Amino acid sequence: MSPRSDDGPNDWDTSTYDEDHSFVFEYGEAVVDLLAPQPDERVLDLGCGTGHLTARIASTGADVVGLDASLEMIDEARETYPDVRFVHADARDFDFEEPFDAVFSNAALHWIADQDAVLESVARALRPGGRFVAELGGAGNVQAIVDAVREAAKDRGYEVESPWYFPTIGEYASRLERHGFEVREATLFDRPTELDGGADGLASWLEMFGDSLLSAVPDAERPAVVADVADRLREEHLVAGTWIADYRRLRIRAVSTQS
Ligand code: BEZ
Repeated sequence: MSPRSDDGPNDWDTSTYDEDHSFVFEYGEAVVDLLAPQPDERVLDLGCGTGHLTARIASTGADVVGLDASLEMIDEARETYPDVRFVHADARDFDFEEPFDAVFSNAALHWIADQDAVLESVARALRPGGRFVAELGGAGNVQAIVDAVREAAKDRGYEVESPWYFPTIGEYASRLERHGFEVREATLFDRPTELDGGADGLASWLEMFGDSLLSAVPDAERPAVVADVADRLREEHLVAGTWIADYRRLRIRAVSTQS
């Protein structure tokens, strides 16, 4: 899940990611179902992170390659799944000799500002008629968290910009069409997501994923900002001791029309 780009670097602690944020790949199972990989099909898993979904796709008999821009993630994936092929590369600029039947991506694309470069690479990687099945954060994703961080930082004199790309269906479908895809399915839906870690779940989420969101706030002031964010969100988002993040997903299935 980490095709980290120059626009939004995040330092990945792979063991914390797997232990405390496993919902990312657990929810990804539904996206694998939408992909419906077939035995011997060539599939690329774009932004594969620690490789759990890549291995899941491999278990169907597909010939899968996992790609991620984080070397830490790729090293971990290779160690966990030595029989699966993983490649360290940038989702904005990659090339393979053999075309793929499908490109898959879960919870990765929203980290990349330059989506045109990504979609150009995806289109180039697919055979004619090949499919692109992806889920990313959609418009309004984690908006309550972003707003609370923005307000808490502003009170201390810092301007926070969201580092993420959370498109609407219209925006993403048009972009796909410009890159030669026909959009067969596009869904935007709320998926309130329980964060692991009980009362510390929100702080732990911000620790794992919020580096670039909090980049304007000096390290020394971050704990106070995070505590302030928790105060602002507690009433609505802490339910029976578990933090619920306001995730919204954009799920798409598109087919390459290039010949
Ligand atoms: C997401 O999967 O929607 C997401 C994860 C971390 C930061 C922002 C969004």
